[in-house]
Amino acid sequence: MSDFSKSATPNSVAIIMDGNGRWATQRSLDRCEGHIAGARAISAVLRALFEKEVHFVTLYAFSTENWKRPRAEVSAIMSLIYRYLNDTVIPEIKSDARLSIRFIGDLTPLDKELRESCEYAEKISRGGEYTCAVALNYGGRAEILHAVNEAIREGATAIDEQTLSRHLYTRAMPDPDLIIRTGGELRTSNFLIWQSAYSEYVILDKLWPDITPEDIISSLDEYTHRKRRYGGL
Ligand code: FPP
Repeated sequence: MSDFSKSATPNSVAIIMDGNGRWATQRSLDRCEGHIAGARAISAVLRALFEKEVHFVTLYAFSTENWKRPRAEVSAIMSLIYRYLNDTVIPEIKSDARLSIRFIGDLTPLDKELRESCEYAEKISRGGEYTCAVALNYGGRAEILHAVNEAIREGATAIDEQTLSRHLYTRAMPDPDLIIRTGGELRTSNFLIWQSAYSEYVILDKLWPDITPEDIISSLDEYTHRKRRYGGL
């Protein structure tokens, strides 16, 4: 890696799909309508990223903090994820062996039907070359604590970076090269806080439901102009 060379197309991209609620409010719609519009934006973005040879895409669908939202909104998001999985993701994985899905986060508190759909989608994923990871009931701090406790249960007495990484939900995936956040806010929101140590960020002001594949491609272009130094010169 040359210190001053431009970065190649990222291999791993993570997205904070923010702004669904504001999108709905701006249109005097219920916030849930924003999530429905947000879910509709996902497929085209994924397709565009995979076409650009991004092999890992991680989507922040529901955080450990999102349970604080009104019960109706939480259940609307959960049923949306359930429908999207069953109507779109599972058929696509069945018809295209190159696609894989995995879930990061603690799935145990989810409704049985949703949990079983997640497990089924993972089971039929055949280790294809393009992986979408869905962060569901995911929190970066919870993930780190989970990893530490798992390592301790396995007998670790001192934990180094490799041991911790091996116990993270993302253990089979590379760290994100690029994290895209829509909706204009400048924060990490407990997303991949361990894995993002050297990630590049692109913040898009557009709200997630308005995001087009072109917006995402221009974020990839912006990334290629970044000089990643990983703390070096
Ligand atoms: C953030 O917008 C968005 C969410 C918390 C939910 C994202 C979920 C989906 C798009 C559902 C489908 C997901 C998958 C992977 C099938 P916000 O509500 O925080 O927006 P705001 O900042 O405008 O309030």
